[in-house]
Amino acid sequence: MKNTLLIKGAEVITASDESKADVLVRDGKIAEIADKIAPTFGAETIDAKGLELYPGGVDVHTHFALPFMGTVSADDFETGTRAAACGGTTAIIDFVIPSKGGSTLDALAEWRKKAEGKAVVDYGFHMALVEFNDKVAAEIPKLVQEGLTSFKCFLAYKGAFMVDDLQFLGVLSAAKKHGALVSIHAENGDMLVYLMNQLLAEGKTGPEYHPVAHPALAEGEATHRGIRLAEMAGAPLYIVHLSCNESLKEVKAARCRGQRVYAETCPQYLLLDESLYRKNGFEAAKWVMSPPLREKAGQEKLWKGLRDGFLQTVATDHCSFDFKKQKVMGKEAFTKIPNGIPAVGDRMNLLYTYGVKQGRLSRTQFAAVTSTNPARLFGLYPHKGTISVGADADLVLYDPKKKGTVSVKTSKHNVDYSAFEGFKLEGLPVLTLSRGEIVAKDGEFVGKKARGRYIKRARFETHED
Ligand code: URP
Ligand code: ZN
Ligand code: ZN
Repeated sequence: MKNTLLIKGAEVITASDESKADVLVRDGKIAEIADKIAPTFGAETIDAKGLELYPGGVDVHTHFALPFMGTVSADDFETGTRAAACGGTTAIIDFVIPSKGGSTLDALAEWRKKAEGKAVVDYGFHMALVEFNDKVAAEIPKLVQEGLTSFKCFLAYKGAFMVDDLQFLGVLSAAKKHGALVSIHAENGDMLVYLMNQLLAEGKTGPEYHPVAHPALAEGEATHRGIRLAEMAGAPLYIVHLSCNESLKEVKAARCRGQRVYAETCPQYLLLDESLYRKNGFEAAKWVMSPPLREKAGQEKLWKGLRDGFLQTVATDHCSFDFKKQKVMGKEAFTKIPNGIPAVGDRMNLLYTYGVKQGRLSRTQFAAVTSTNPARLFGLYPHKGTISVGADADLVLYDPKKKGTVSVKTSKHNVDYSAFEGFKLEGLPVLTLSRGEIVAKDGEFVGKKARGRYIKRARFETHED
């Protein structure tokens, strides 16, 4: 039978359950889950004994083809989503970043054009609001109508994307009115400019000074302020790319007070540390990102934050720049190094090995932080983010015994280095399904071109309009 696929004998793992079962996929959806399903005539059957079936990964923080710091991020929606699929991720949410004074609706149309005809897995968009005024306020309900139900404010990148507290409060209350979730890049932009100017004036221009200009103090301050402003507005808040205990403490305190604050961390903050900035001179530019990598000692606190539910998601903040062609733009001054790293293809595998295999996360927690929680927070659930009858058959089948090593040689990212070069992996995806179609096999893309669809996302919660 056409469009029917039977996955037999896998351990089926969701954010809440683990059980051995057969899963029948028909016309892109999960049609049945049962102890034993008899093979239907004509259906493709996959023997999944000894394998683990998870909901396909949901990465809610990518920047494909982003014009940023005088260049454009190297992975576009084709290479970025191919890498995602090969690494077990079946849905992404990217950021539209409009220019000041421009229309956010036009910017959404522009980003949709970038993705259409390129993306190979399903995708949605957040809108960065780089200013707040009557025009932006009037556009918010229209964006929500288009299924764009989350907004991001930058409390850093002064002179470019940064908004002040008054504008941020405006965004929070407008988003709340229409049932959208606001997220923040939490670093104090003024503190960063102050430090950058001081370092440059002292002739400290190398990439090793990037973390000095982006201290945890500045992240903790902005996280605290963002949370208190959200409290005043009575709005929920999501903190992106949380990197250190200074901000985790603020999230914990807020959640213990009962505030609706959610937070994401990234594989780089769980697994890489600031010692990389002091190795091999300019090579450190490979890891220049904001916030920067932090002390190794803080990493276990982030893992614990995930386990304890204070951090709900792991996304990548994938924003890739070629080392030889793009990172070198900052040879004269670290402030000019395009910020970001490639990671969308590595996230699931790193979390599986260093989370599940090394005992830091249970398998259900792995499903929760890589797929279910982000899908729930950003209006994709229950179509995405779980394995249940009626849901999209966005699935990833892991072989828990298969071994590998992260390397630029095998990476599908469109750049000349891997941020995680040499990391050993145990447990790899052998099959990725997007809406029932096999899109990756043994880490290689086998799907059709441009098959990804724009996802109109649901609103965050009850709303006033
Ligand atoms: O360094 C980073 N994080 N680059 C991407 C833009 C952002 O701040 O998320
Ligand atoms: Zn950011
Ligand atoms: Zn980002």
